[in-house]
Amino acid sequence: MIHSQQSKQGMQLERIQWCDEFNVGVKIIDEQHKRFVGILNNLSDSISGTKPDADEVYSVIIELIDYTSTHFVTEEELMKVYKWENYREHFKIHNRFVEKIGEYNKNYHHVSQAELEDIYLFLKSWLLNHISVEDRKLASFLNSEGLK
Ligand SMILES: [Fe+2]
Repeated sequence: MIHSQQSKQGMQLERIQWCDEFNVGVKIIDEQHKRFVGILNNLSDSISGTKPDADEVYSVIIELIDYTSTHFVTEEELMKVYKWENYREHFKIHNRFVEKIGEYNKNYHHVSQAELEDIYLFLKSWLLNHISVEDRKLASFLNSEGLK
C-alpha cells in the first residue's frame, strides 16, 4: 500500500488517492477524513525532493496536529451523543495518537529527510488503518442509530 521511489529530484513519496473504500458511511466523518488525506498529501509534497523546506514541513505538521484534534472532537462527540459502548476504547486510541504526533512538534531544521519520511509513512499507515478498522466500527454503529 505504501510506495516511495527515488527520482533525480530526490525521494518522491506517493500521494494518497482517495477511493470509495475509504468512506465509512457517515458524511461528516468522511468529509473530515478526506481533508485529513489532503493534509497528508501536502506533507508528502513538502518532504519530497532533495531539500525540503523545514518551515513548510513544520507548518503542514502543525496543521495536521490542529486538524487531528478538530476531527477527534467531532468523532468523540458523536460517540457520546449516541452513547456508543466502545467510546472509552476508541477515545484511548485517539489519545495515544495525539501524544505520538505531539512528539513531532519540534525543530524541523534538525530532522533528517529519512526521519521526515518515517513520520509521513507512520501518519499515513495509522490513518488508513484507523479509518478502515476503528472508524468503520463507529460508523456502522452510527448508521444503526440512523446517522448517515
Ligand atoms: Fe477515530
